[in-house]
Amino acid sequence: MFRAAASSSSASLRRSVLRQSQPWARTLSSSSSLLRPTPSDPTPPKSPTPTSSPVGASPKPDEDGTTHFGYRDIPSSSKEGLVASVFSSVASSYDLMNDAMSLGIHRLWKAHFVSKLDPRGGINVLDVAGGTGDIALRILDHARLKHIDRETKVTMLDINPEMLREGMKRIKRESMYWNTPQIDYQLGNAEALHSSMEIPPPRKGHKTLPPLKSQRTEDESVDLYTIAFGIRNCTHIDKVLEEAYRVLKPGGVFACLEFGKVNNPLLAQIYKQYSFQVLPSLGHILASDRDSYQYLVESIERFPTQQQFANMMKKVGFVLPGSEEGERRLRQEGLDGEEWGGSGQGEWEDLTGGIATIWIGCKL
Ligand SMILES: C[S@@+](CC[C@H](N)C(=O)[O-])C[C@H]1O[C@@H](n2cnc3c(N)ncnc32)[C@H](O)[C@@H]1O
Repeated sequence: MFRAAASSSSASLRRSVLRQSQPWARTLSSSSSLLRPTPSDPTPPKSPTPTSSPVGASPKPDEDGTTHFGYRDIPSSSKEGLVASVFSSVASSYDLMNDAMSLGIHRLWKAHFVSKLDPRGGINVLDVAGGTGDIALRILDHARLKHIDRETKVTMLDINPEMLREGMKRIKRESMYWNTPQIDYQLGNAEALHSSMEIPPPRKGHKTLPPLKSQRTEDESVDLYTIAFGIRNCTHIDKVLEEAYRVLKPGGVFACLEFGKVNNPLLAQIYKQYSFQVLPSLGHILASDRDSYQYLVESIERFPTQQQFANMMKKVGFVLPGSEEGERRLRQEGLDGEEWGGSGQGEWEDLTGGIATIWIGCKL
């Protein structure tokens, strides 16, 4: 099994994510062509982006201290503030817009993401960039309904107080976990989980919520680290990954759901038209906010390719269980490749043709 230091909860979680052909995955993917996972290809998928556009997925900010904000090149130091203003602006309409923009498909992706991880066994989960709590709620519901597990605990962490407060309001309004030890909220920066953040004063309408908290996340304290549609908003993706690696226990799992690059040229063309023609207008009509949704669309284009992101994960030390290399590493650790590893199917899982992608990494 794992090293002695690995907790049994991490081990069972990891066993779950390492299984390649879970019956539920087949059922879910075959029941919905929109969600059908496509095995990843060892070669980088082609970006649908034309070379004439100002786009080019850049895995990290330039050495000279510039980065991108959508299509704009900006000083790295400004990105956090600009992203903050986007999410403060969209916080109250975020859930409505998510459904409208994705035609509800984001729900299928998130459900699949959580099912694939199959969280259970009283584990400690850190849901980074937790926003309005979509992933946290699904994790707690999955553990409770599928495994009668009321011990698993999720800490929702977000850099944006408005988004975090929207999440708290929702957990209070819609769930049974409010005021239970199963859920906690932290203001924090994915790039710097080693430090706490300054707490802003509560705003009107939030007076009924408990005050926000912020504290350092300790080394090797987390069994499962999730980040859904959050990492592309971070300035230094490599720092996010390093911090994820630091806070995970040996045997812990890093799981990322993010927009990928579409593989099929026809779907890529349709998706591009929809993203750039329809989404900013929807933002304008439904949330009176074209600019924020224009940024969100552009930020998807600027995110690394599936292969680039997988490489970044491996660089910080994660083992990607679906790959042949991952399987070899697992065998080196004395783990049964068949039981623990994949059959070399790929380092990521594309959903809906690569519109969204799941990457999973293990800290051995
Ligand atoms: C698109 S939302 C995703 C929310 C949620 N995970 C979901 O799937 O619905 C992105 C979230 O990332 C947060 N975020 C952006 N940069 C961050 C950072 N550096 N650290 C933590 N959260 C961040 C934003 O505040 C926002 O709530």
